[in-house]
Amino acid sequence: MDITGAVYQIYPRSFADSNGDGIGDLGGILAHLDHLQALGVDVLWLSPIYCSPQDDNGYDISDYQDIDPAFGTLEQFDELLAAVHGRGMKLVMDLVVNHTSDEHPWFVESRSSPDSPKRDWYWWRRPRPGMAAGAAGAEPTNWASAFSGPAWELDEASGEYYLHLFSPKQPDLNWENPQVRQAVYAMMGWWLDRGVDGFRMDVINMISKDVGPDGHLHDGRPVEGSPYGDGSASYICGPRIHEFLQEMHQEVFAHRDGQLLTVGEMPGVTVEEAVLFTDPARAEVDMVFQFEHVDLDHGPGGKFDPRPLRLTDVKASLGRWQEGLEEVGWNSLYWNNHDQPRVVSRFGDDSPAHRVASATCLATLLHLHRGTPYVYQGEELGMTNAPFDSIQDFRDIESVNHYRHAVAAGADAETVLAGLRWTGRDNARTPVQWTSGPNAGFTTGTPWIAVNPNHDVVNAEAARADPDSVFHHYRRLIELRHTEPVVALGDFTMLVPHHEQVYAFTRRLGDVELLVVCNVSGDDVRADLPGGWADAELLIGNRPDVVVPGEEGLLRPWEARVHRRTCGNQ
Ligand code: NOJ
Repeated sequence: MDITGAVYQIYPRSFADSNGDGIGDLGGILAHLDHLQALGVDVLWLSPIYCSPQDDNGYDISDYQDIDPAFGTLEQFDELLAAVHGRGMKLVMDLVVNHTSDEHPWFVESRSSPDSPKRDWYWWRRPRPGMAAGAAGAEPTNWASAFSGPAWELDEASGEYYLHLFSPKQPDLNWENPQVRQAVYAMMGWWLDRGVDGFRMDVINMISKDVGPDGHLHDGRPVEGSPYGDGSASYICGPRIHEFLQEMHQEVFAHRDGQLLTVGEMPGVTVEEAVLFTDPARAEVDMVFQFEHVDLDHGPGGKFDPRPLRLTDVKASLGRWQEGLEEVGWNSLYWNNHDQPRVVSRFGDDSPAHRVASATCLATLLHLHRGTPYVYQGEELGMTNAPFDSIQDFRDIESVNHYRHAVAAGADAETVLAGLRWTGRDNARTPVQWTSGPNAGFTTGTPWIAVNPNHDVVNAEAARADPDSVFHHYRRLIELRHTEPVVALGDFTMLVPHHEQVYAFTRRLGDVELLVVCNVSGDDVRADLPGGWADAELLIGNRPDVVVPGEEGLLRPWEARVHRRTCGNQ
């Protein structure tokens, strides 16, 4: 697939509800394809819609080859796929194969007995030597789960533990077992035969665990103040990860035409590893989702212990990724997804005075980098974080568990809540605001999570009617990507790396050069930028109120501009 387009992520549960049960569904997506077509995106990525007990909102799958009744049916899926294709867009599915649901028949069989033919499809281990099953610290390793507590769950019947890097309802598949790999590849082929255009692969760099020849798994480094250790060295980009992805490519994609997209979500991946994963010659994946820039505001206590973001750190990080993947490999570009708080609240300013300018400034900055930009539902409307009042307002397993564990361990409940409000994943999961009407036009029923009350102002209907809205700015950025090859493909040079408020860079492809200048602050600022751009065309800007450019180098709050010149024109 042409990887130079723009991808739009749909979190179906929160996108649009067509049957009034309060949960978004396939009918809701079908009803809003006009919106996506008007935005101009090339690819839609659907977060999981498969059968699931919904312990982690569908990232716990109990049947990979059917649609959860809450979302619809396979017939509706086929209808949606045809409609997406009919509008010239592609559709990419979420592939969650580091783990299944504990209700998946594979795990049900595996759990049934230590002698089950599927026992070895998951990670079963006896208690730590010399310790009784269920005793404190008897888990086979000291690893923490991503959703609080240990990464091992005791199965009382057999006295053995199974591994779950996420919730106990998400047991990890054992990719060492070739039968597991073949079952996954067959399932992927089934979806491709149905016509889907590729996969976004959930935590795919965690599928290879560092396991000794005798089956031993190693303890992780101890974490201060926690009974559990950090096991990531044993499963982030483990020893066989490249082999597994190459095998997957060979078995699933190599014999199909080249129009498929593969994106590996990879927490903790380094630039050096990303080059290997995305080098076309190695045939692994087209691009990776890395987390460095969205972890920069995490404090010493982790994601729920936020600290202020320094723009110079963002530049250093994104700049290094631009440089690292310049010759070989490819970048994914994103601020938002279903796991991240809303960017306009996090790195911008969501107050009425600055919401539109800061959302469009951050959009310009990101979309003008080299790589494939991802727009997460509602980002194109400048949707903000939600005003969660108490813990009862949260739905996400990660937030709810963290609150329970932290408060039980003696943390101040208000401080814990403040962290959840800032970085909690539910910020991204409040319903898409379609109108200013009841429940923002998301549902005629009771939404599964409260609608943000600011839908009276922030909504798609209003945004589409206003040429200066966040929506139209995203639309123009995507259009620019389609008409100016330098946007996707040009090389990248960072300017003023030490400036605390201005993010600026140039892009160049052949004789076309772009200058991108963004004031990432609410102040008037000045930056010493290279000369020779005075007569350059303004391709796109986000401050229509600044009709005549001010003094040279003066930028208004959250102002973003993209200038273009050709080399003969300097
Ligand atoms: C990453 C997904 O993006 C997240 O939503 C999910 O909770 C975990 N992987 C586990 O599947």
